[in-house]
Amino acid sequence: MSDAIETHQTEIRHFAPSPEFAARAIVSDSSLHDAGDADFESFWAGQARDLLHWDTEWSKVLDWDPPNAKWFVDGKLNVTYNCIDRHVESGHGSQVAFFWEGEPGDERAITYSQLLEDVSRCANALKELGVERGDRVAIYMGMVPELTVAMLACARIGAAHSVVFGGFSSDSLRGRINDAEAKIVITCDGAWRRGAVVALKDIVDEALLDTPSIEKCIVLKRTDHGNEMTEGRDIWWHDLVDRQSAECPPEPMDAEQLLFILYTSGTTAKPKGIMHTTGGYLTGVASTFRSIFDIHPDEDVYWCTADCGWVTGHSYIVYGPLANRSTSVLYEGTPDHPDKDRFWAIVEKYGVTILYTAPTAIRTFMKWGVEYPGAHDLTSLRLLGSVGEPINPEAWIWYHDVIGGGKTPIVDTWWQTETGAVMISPLPGLTTLKPGSATFAMPGIGVDVVGDDGRHVGIPGGGYLVLTKPWPSMLRGVWGDPERFQETYWSRFPGLYFAGDGARYDDDGYIWLLGRVDDVMLVSGHNISTAEVESALVDHHAVAEAAVVGVHDPTTGQAISAFVVLKNDHEPSKALEKELRIHVGNLIGAIARPKSILFTDDLPKTRSGKIMRRLLRNVADDETLGDTTTLADPGVVARIKDRFLSVDSEDDEVDDLEENQK
Ligand code: WT7
Repeated sequence: MSDAIETHQTEIRHFAPSPEFAARAIVSDSSLHDAGDADFESFWAGQARDLLHWDTEWSKVLDWDPPNAKWFVDGKLNVTYNCIDRHVESGHGSQVAFFWEGEPGDERAITYSQLLEDVSRCANALKELGVERGDRVAIYMGMVPELTVAMLACARIGAAHSVVFGGFSSDSLRGRINDAEAKIVITCDGAWRRGAVVALKDIVDEALLDTPSIEKCIVLKRTDHGNEMTEGRDIWWHDLVDRQSAECPPEPMDAEQLLFILYTSGTTAKPKGIMHTTGGYLTGVASTFRSIFDIHPDEDVYWCTADCGWVTGHSYIVYGPLANRSTSVLYEGTPDHPDKDRFWAIVEKYGVTILYTAPTAIRTFMKWGVEYPGAHDLTSLRLLGSVGEPINPEAWIWYHDVIGGGKTPIVDTWWQTETGAVMISPLPGLTTLKPGSATFAMPGIGVDVVGDDGRHVGIPGGGYLVLTKPWPSMLRGVWGDPERFQETYWSRFPGLYFAGDGARYDDDGYIWLLGRVDDVMLVSGHNISTAEVESALVDHHAVAEAAVVGVHDPTTGQAISAFVVLKNDHEPSKALEKELRIHVGNLIGAIARPKSILFTDDLPKTRSGKIMRRLLRNVADDETLGDTTTLADPGVVARIKDRFLSVDSEDDEVDDLEENQK
């Protein structure tokens, strides 16, 4: 069992929902949980029926041939009809869907009627370019409203989008385009980030040097960044989309029609294209969004600070909120531009009532100081959310007290790109909270913590987090790689979905997430694979060998620490360290740049040649190492070797451990 899994109980305060919150909450009793427990299939069928419009009802709720699931078999619906048209038809066309705030300070309010027209025009544009049902469209944009429009336009005509986060490199973008064989890429000339322009189109141009499937590149003008347009391939958004008809009838799609592919890092260097389909996914996100965020569409202003390049943006900026006719804030830029109070200025300006962000952001705000939130009126906030990694109790309490004024519940939501929707979370009008615990499984979701033998560990107890029943928004596979799907998620514990996280039950049966147990790092709540960073490092001509571990970081949760063995004719230097960091950034994206690089002449390995990451983690976590992250420090190297020697006899145990973590 991993050393990440240990049980420790600390004294903690409990927070019961206030009577005022519970009185007007959508969920304030156990009936949803009871219905989910009694019969999860009928529970989900009820949610699908109550929350969505179906053109054709399903003939069977679930067809489960492990690990392959089909939900709402033969059912037909259109995602965008559910997210937009029906709200306009019911008289809410003038309600704002998105208050968009550009980083430089420009703003737009997009109503549901406007969104319908924009999405229809963009869908017609895609059709004009020959995009058909089942085709893949890559989207590589900043956080502008057109990003959501592009996603929804794909959904309207049954094309699958593959959104690639705008911070990824041209190599990463090219790999994702080629893996999915995308026909079209939609991008911006540039994106605003911390007052500067990120030249997105230049990155796309480089990616497109070797992407045989791409026929056209649609470019939205956002920054007036000068661009070369490639004749015959590149088209300006305003030349193509603006002249289209604002009518594009929403065609009914099969419930299992591919809605999107989203790439996530696994334990190997190659990212996995996670597939999500139409009916089950929309049911899952619509249902969880409503109950977790207690959304009252006529009153709430909801803001999720994620980027649409991650699953959080897909499920809880676009599909979940729109399916519930919410009014959301969409923000383009960073929290520290022009100053470190930008988020709080936005909360005040729009009267945000529900805020959903990540622990890494919360810890950054703690570091910046209370004067920034303190300068703004945050009393509109009534509910806060957290996602991406475990939230430490100290950050939880700060979030609750400083941002929430001591009165807001916090929903700590555990889920993954693969799960599509939240699997573990409090329901804010019902659940008594314990800071740091994601509490309990969502209604209709089967969660358990099991030991090495795949059996429930008992309460209290620690082990591996698994999902025990199929769920509607579950991934339908890994694009082009069914074996990897089976192997990664379904083979560790037969019959159970293995999430890759360690978890424990406390004495009261509350679930506490303990981080990843495999070789996936969680940096600012985002999955990065050690193998991917290692292969980027050894791609550099000076590097012979590299090992990468995630080490504890007070702000980002984990930080990437690299151990690098240079080729004989290369010497460690500050300059080379910098070069390697840039190299990794160029190959994968800035988020994957190691925070520290330690040059060493050897890496500790087991007899069978596996790198002993646990040992390196100990070395990297060792605070006494301080800043010796650059040059070969013989002391550090000796220490690595010392530890290596002292655990040499544990080789076999370590082998087992690494096997277990696959
Ligand atoms: C991994 C999934 C889900 C959207 C963002 C990340 C970790 C996520 C929590 C939480 C503890 C969490 C897990 C999970 N994680 N939320 N509330 N508490 N850990 O999506 O990139 O697919 O990463 O994020 O380790 O496996 P992702």
